[in-house]
Amino acid sequence: MIIETQQDVTDAVLGEMFRTPDPRTRELLSSLVKHLHAFIRETKLTEKEFQDAIGLVNSIGQRTTPSHNEAMLLSGALGVSNLVCLINNGAKGTRPTQANNLGPFYRAGAPNLEDGASLLRSATPGEALSFKGWVKDTAGKPIAGAEVDVWHSSPVGLYENQDKTQAEMNLRGRFTTLADGSFSFRSVKPAGYPVPTEGPTGALLRAQKRHNMRPAHLHFLIHKPGFKTIASQVYDPEDPHLETDSQFGVTRALIGRFEKNTSGYALEFSFVLEAGESWRPRAPITEKVSA
Ligand SMILES: [Fe+2]
Repeated sequence: MIIETQQDVTDAVLGEMFRTPDPRTRELLSSLVKHLHAFIRETKLTEKEFQDAIGLVNSIGQRTTPSHNEAMLLSGALGVSNLVCLINNGAKGTRPTQANNLGPFYRAGAPNLEDGASLLRSATPGEALSFKGWVKDTAGKPIAGAEVDVWHSSPVGLYENQDKTQAEMNLRGRFTTLADGSFSFRSVKPAGYPVPTEGPTGALLRAQKRHNMRPAHLHFLIHKPGFKTIASQVYDPEDPHLETDSQFGVTRALIGRFEKNTSGYALEFSFVLEAGESWRPRAPITEKVSA
């Protein structure tokens, strides 16, 4: 159509939606266009701001490499990742859930380990941590044979993919739950860490005068056919950034209880899986930083 007024632009774009054969794609695109156009009208977006926004979107891609996922990081910093998680888990957002953001640091292909094994593959000084987890269904019955991916940052706050001093796949491993639904491993207590700020996520945080820290946590990804796959994180209750996580990931259900003992720390945690579709999320990164 020939555009006569500013309102016509929205009508013209929405008028083309009927060509989109897939109904869900059509629904998503129509809603996206309506909200984008409404955002521009509501904020009276200027031409200079539009130019800046284009540069920002371009830089999301330009910052992304096989060892860094800027879009995933920015989604977390805007609360989008956890919102998507919470409306899709916990009986569709009506009950607490152990599901949480996958985050930008998950790598597929971590080594399969025996129950109780260590996650250390290179010397990693820090306080010892022994973890025992249980995977259960919503009735509290143990789920045996679930695959549990585990990964976490080092005691200096770096994932192995960010840190040339750590061995490939250090502090990562894959376990299979035993007949009682449990799995366990030994590691070192992770530290909270600053998220990278070289890209647009950093620009956002600086513009808002927000810090870039995440409270200390361990990551899990639990997969068992017949159950809805969950990513999860368990947070250190004593971390000073628990209330101000720069990725908005901390929920009440995911604050762990680290017990101090003579050899370090012990942590136990239960994960509940809902019946549903098991699937494997795409890994946001695929390799370590190059030398
Ligand atoms: Fe993390």
